[in-house]
Amino acid sequence: MSETYYVRTFGCQMNKHDSERVTGLLRSSGMTPGTTLDSADVVVFLTCCVRENADERLRGQVASLKSVKTARSGGQLIAVGGCIGQRDGERLLEQLPHVDVVFGTHNVAHLPALLEAARSARRPVVEVLDQAAEGFTSDLPAEREHPWHAWVPITVGCDNFCSYCIVPHVRGRERSRPLDSIVSETSALVAEGVLEITLLGQNVNSYGRDLYGEPRFAEVLRAVAATGIERIRFATSHPKDLSDATIEAMAELPAVARSLHLPAQSGSDRVLAAMNRRYTAADYVSLVDRLYAALPDLALSTDIIVGFPGETEEDFEATMALVERARYDQAFTFIYSPRVGTPAAELEDPTPREVVQERFDRLVARVQASALEKNRALVGTAQRVLFTGVSKRDASVLSGRTEGNKVVHVPLPAGSSAEEWRGRFAEVRIDEAQTWFLGGYTLEA
Ligand code: 5AD
Ligand code: SF4
Repeated sequence: MSETYYVRTFGCQMNKHDSERVTGLLRSSGMTPGTTLDSADVVVFLTCCVRENADERLRGQVASLKSVKTARSGGQLIAVGGCIGQRDGERLLEQLPHVDVVFGTHNVAHLPALLEAARSARRPVVEVLDQAAEGFTSDLPAEREHPWHAWVPITVGCDNFCSYCIVPHVRGRERSRPLDSIVSETSALVAEGVLEITLLGQNVNSYGRDLYGEPRFAEVLRAVAATGIERIRFATSHPKDLSDATIEAMAELPAVARSLHLPAQSGSDRVLAAMNRRYTAADYVSLVDRLYAALPDLALSTDIIVGFPGETEEDFEATMALVERARYDQAFTFIYSPRVGTPAAELEDPTPREVVQERFDRLVARVQASALEKNRALVGTAQRVLFTGVSKRDASVLSGRTEGNKVVHVPLPAGSSAEEWRGRFAEVRIDEAQTWFLGGYTLEA
């Protein structure tokens, strides 16, 4: 019987992309998917260290595998990769000595060889490379979660050094992938039947600065749209680098989904400066106005950090005002988490934990009200939906995503099966709006 694997992925979309590559690699080395963490022969963790809770969850889960590993007659191989692997390397083994392989963000391709080396040497193997060492993982085989969707990395690393963020310290400087490589991968994906791609980078808007001396993201959108791909998404956009040329390309190209993730982080100029974000709240609002003017049906999402060191009630109120003004469809809200090695971790923070929590709760309530308001405005409209499967709660209800990336539930049309709809676009009339999903019915059979 072949060996089984189980991959657990934390964190951002780049890890989701790498997770599909890890799965593809393990499959092509003859392994089959296992069903649980405990029962698999090989367990791979793709980790995140952007906030403390992801860091702790990883440690907890790996620690609890220790007894599983010793109880199994054939043992179990445990590999830890991603950002914690890249950041900690050898040090990880001091805390978790039963880990067999530690790898980083630049050597995913070596995983099968590292597993083999650990198995034959009967001792842990650590390989963490610095950023220059390897190309983009897109050259590796992928086992995609959905056959109609693919992640396409266009940059890796980050040059922005926001003062709270560990990413540039772990993932290194920004490097762009050559445009022809992005286009040829997308063309191959179209030929395989992929309908939707998500272009990935920590800051897609600065794409090309290292290669071409100036950002060329608008050109990427145009070139990728010309391959005939049905729908293009991208993440993430730093507000300081989102150009008018990009807004123009978004408005012009029907394949670009009317949805944008534009992290604001804060609405206070003082906090934004301390965060090293390099824009003011007024800059951000003016950008949002330009976006809605060019793309009136845009679905806008954001990231907000509450409780940055020294945040006052006035700073927080400025964030609440920005959230109100930007009319977000969705916001990912985070309580500030100090990360060793970042400048913000050195700052004094006099704000009591309960105050931060109370602000966080107020922010979440405002975000929910904003999301519901945006969804209500869609009632009565027709939306182009890509069906992804059935609702988790009810197999007679289809589930899909709008251009704005909103979940839509639609009763399965009589006489059809869910399988016929999965991976298909259809027009849906919206007749129900909730905070986190819409309801509707199909306008075509
Ligand atoms: N604490 C809290 N949130 C953070 N983020 C990044 N670093 C931290 C931190 N130290 C958030 C930012 C970023 C998102 C991916 O994670 O909002 O946009
Ligand atoms: Fe972190 Fe800022 Fe880079 Fe985003 S842009 S990855 S928040 S440093």
